[in-house]
Amino acid sequence: MEGHASQVTEHDSDRFWDLYSRFYDSVYHLMPYRKLLWDTYQALELQPGIRVLDAGCGTGNLELFISEKPHPPVEIEGVDYSQAMLARARSKCRDLSFVEFKRCDLNRPLPYPDASFDRIVSVNVLYALEKRDDTMRELLRILKPGGRLVITSPTPEFSIAPLLLDHMRRVRNIWGFSRKARRVLGSISILATSGVGSIILNVFVINRRENAGRYHSLDLTDLEAFLARHGPSGIGDVRIQPALAQQNLFATATKMAAA
Ligand SMILES: C[S@@+](CC[C@H](N)C(=O)[O-])C[C@H]1O[C@@H](n2cnc3c(N)ncnc32)[C@H](O)[C@@H]1O
Repeated sequence: MEGHASQVTEHDSDRFWDLYSRFYDSVYHLMPYRKLLWDTYQALELQPGIRVLDAGCGTGNLELFISEKPHPPVEIEGVDYSQAMLARARSKCRDLSFVEFKRCDLNRPLPYPDASFDRIVSVNVLYALEKRDDTMRELLRILKPGGRLVITSPTPEFSIAPLLLDHMRRVRNIWGFSRKARRVLGSISILATSGVGSIILNVFVINRRENAGRYHSLDLTDLEAFLARHGPSGIGDVRIQPALAQQNLFATATKMAAA
């Protein structure tokens, strides 16, 4: 079955994410977030010629991170429903010929034929989706047999403080005075500017939406159950571990060839 084109209307998108796009890049300088991107990059095991879907790509941080690391020739398609996030992603990644960004609503059938991608990655998006089981069915449909899924999402106890502490611990361990000084000064300037906006939006919007039952983060039991529900559709080799200073869960799974 091929999903029909997901037409995104203004109503579908969410002004909150458009607003967040103005501050979101501050996370790129947060060391535990960079570690999360590193874990994601490693879990993707990029091979020459593969197609990767980044579901909920935001401002293109993962694509930028990959471009800074050794990688074979691959094609990455980043999709998001926020025009503002996509505008930032396109601007940041304008020189990256292996990346394309498209507007797409993950709450709707996805506009791709079956078995379109070798890898599907989704970083910190699952909790914000309306019906994540429907989205997962769609992601599995467009993932090739043998393809890998990499998903990371915040836990219900998610809090900013452990991230900041982890950041400071990692900065303290940086080797070399000038590198360390650059990071310290960078941290201060980011915290004083876009970092504050980012923290306020997290505390006042994401936390409130979570408390109001609109967003649904997952603990280990929820995530295991969620992935197990999709086992019969052919998902296997599931591995879950903590990430992002213990504030996230990081899951990898494979779509079984016989599905
Ligand atoms: C916390 S950000 C994560 C962005 C990116 N993956 C990263 O780690 O930097 C969540 C992203 O999910 C996107 N998003 C939320 N609901 C969506 C939906 N229904 N369809 C497409 N994108 C969605 C938001 O616009 C936002 O860019």
